[in-house]
Amino acid sequence: MHAVMKITLTKTFILRCFLVSLFLSLPFIFLYLLFPQQQPFHNPVTNKDLRIRPGYSSYETYIQRQLNKTLNPRLRKIWTTRDWDRKIPVFARFFEELKERKLLQNTSKALCIGARVGQEVEALRRIGVLDSLGMDLVPYPPLVVKGDFHNQPFNNDTFDFEFSNVFDHALYPERFVAEIERTLKPEGVCVLHVALSRRADKYSANDLYSIQPLVELFNHSALVHVRSVDGFGLDTEVAFRKNGGTRHHRL
Ligand SMILES: *[C@@H]1O[C@H](CO)[C@@H](O)[C@H](O)[C@H]1NC(C)=O
Ligand SMILES: *[C@@H]1O[C@H](CO)[C@@H](O)[C@H](O)[C@H]1NC(C)=O
Ligand SMILES: *[C@@H]1O[C@H](CO)[C@@H](O)[C@H](O)[C@H]1NC(C)=O
Ligand SMILES: *[C@@H]1O[C@H](CO)[C@@H](O)[C@H](O)[C@H]1NC(C)=O
Repeated sequence: MHAVMKITLTKTFILRCFLVSLFLSLPFIFLYLLFPQQQPFHNPVTNKDLRIRPGYSSYETYIQRQLNKTLNPRLRKIWTTRDWDRKIPVFARFFEELKERKLLQNTSKALCIGARVGQEVEALRRIGVLDSLGMDLVPYPPLVVKGDFHNQPFNNDTFDFEFSNVFDHALYPERFVAEIERTLKPEGVCVLHVALSRRADKYSANDLYSIQPLVELFNHSALVHVRSVDGFGLDTEVAFRKNGGTRHHRL
């Protein structure tokens, strides 16, 4: 067969394949156009990018497991000695960068969620954010008060700034986020450090594979930025700003 002929036949064949596949996908295109709002992730908790780990028979079991890590005497010793000096300057640098981005001020009332012994609170105070407090299941006075992030012991509209690097410990991520949005003042800022590409530790209650579930969960806030960080095994910083009281909520 002549070479030119061969090419023409191949071209015709490819064109046919294309038309057939286009024809076959038409129903799906129509379905998408008819029900576009059913395509995005509607229930973030069953979203493929956010998976709750199985194995917690009750909330009590979950809390016991979290306490097991938080109360571990060996870990607590490390957190208050070697880690104390190693981590505070790193947290301070993260917070200085947030100041430069106008997401945090010295006058901000700040909360650190899941702060354990309060390294991040100490870092905030050192850089001049004096009205800052930590919260965890086990208190560590004076920096950290007792509280469950699924049910924060604070009134609505209390904080200008909330920070957390324990999102992966949340058994109910929608409660974790709803409580942040409740206790933040309008226009308040929430900054999370999360692990996207690496797997979190054995005490994690969920695994996060993209920031999309967070964007869905923070449904009364706007995404401010996403950037890479090197935060003790956590690789991504995500910042949200809660909607203002007078502004319309995002659709
Ligand atoms: C944590 O669990 C281990 C074994 O599962 C147990 O031996 C240890 O006492 C527990 N620690 C705390 C602080 O509950
Ligand atoms: C914030 O506090 C720090 C530490 O006390 C201080 O160095 C800095 O000048 C303050 N910044 C402003 C804008 O007041
Ligand atoms: C606090 O905020 C929640 C959630 O936005 C709302 O349902 C509740 O009514 C508020 N409570 C008060 C006392 O305003
Ligand atoms: C926001 O998300 C929460 C939890 O994911 C959900 O219960 C609530 O209905 C959502 N609200 C809006 C306005 O979409």
